Amino acid sequence: MEELTFLLQETRLKVDESLKNILATFRDNTPDRLYKAMEYSALSPGKRFRSFLLLEFGQAFQVPEKQLLQVAMAIEFVNAYSLVHDDLPCMDDAALRRGQPTTHLKFDEATALLAGNSLLTAAFQLLSREGTHPDPTIRLRLIMALTQACGSQGMMGGQMLDLLGETQKFNVDEIKHMQALKTGALLIFSCEAAAILSNKEIDTINKVRSFGAHLGLAFQITDDLLDYEGSIEKAGKPIGIDQQTGKSTLVKLLGFEEARVRAKEEVENALLALQKIGFSSSKLEKATRALLIRSI
Ligand code: IPE
Ligand code: IPE
Ligand code: MG
Ligand code: MG
Ligand code: MG
Repeated sequence: MEELTFLLQETRLKVDESLKNILATFRDNTPDRLYKAMEYSALSPGKRFRSFLLLEFGQAFQVPEKQLLQVAMAIEFVNAYSLVHDDLPCMDDAALRRGQPTTHLKFDEATALLAGNSLLTAAFQLLSREGTHPDPTIRLRLIMALTQACGSQGMMGGQMLDLLGETQKFNVDEIKHMQALKTGALLIFSCEAAAILSNKEIDTINKVRSFGAHLGLAFQITDDLLDYEGSIEKAGKPIGIDQQTGKSTLVKLLGFEEARVRAKEEVENALLALQKIGFSSSKLEKATRALLIRSI
């Protein structure tokens, strides 16, 4: 079994179980077709990498698991929504996601649009529920941090730049900026949310964010490498879309070898950032390193 799959396995089982239960709380009064599309998109077999980050930091910061799982669900809903929309014909126009037909092909474009919007909204509804944290100030801080991570100054800004990068030539810094937004922002939130839940001081929060930022770059560079040299069976998504659409990536700009060097640098920087936080999680360290050899 691939190392990353192995390391994420325990989280995946827990998260998949919770996803089913929590999604069911949105079933009442949701039109059946919309609910089915939400279910199809959120419960499909994702890696749950962001949940893994949250749970690892959360355990280190002694956050109760129930709180962690509720926030993990919000993150997975946002991730699922972002992928449903990312795959639409007006975006990357992809036919396969997590080994299954994309939501707009299984249902239709309008339903995919609405299911994505519903999952995004559900994420914030979840964070506002009391089970997320008894202190409403903490809940509000989580909501604010997630809105920043998802919105025009985060993931959506990154997706806009990603599309502009199909026709404009970006330099290394511009590509890294785009990646930091489209992918880094949600990965940073996944780490940071644990620190917010345990009400850590700003210094710790910043250190945790720094780890997430380096990890986010490593994650997207290795995702871009997969688009060139991965396998559709293992990745569960089409290969070659970035080339077809002319995306600006470090692989395209610098070549495979240099892109791999950059990914490795980000992994090393992430590990240094982790040391500075002052706790050791061999699982987190291994998963960070495993990004460099992933095929999923
Ligand atoms: C895919 O994220 C989107 C990117 C930021 C590259 P993942 O690779 O975590 O996708 P799933 O959730 O495992 O399907
Ligand atoms: C996706 O980047 C980033 C978000 C969904 C926000 P990609 O377009 O490279 O992700 P994949 O390769 O389709 O999973
Ligand atoms: Mg994309
Ligand atoms: Mg895509
Ligand atoms: Mg990709």
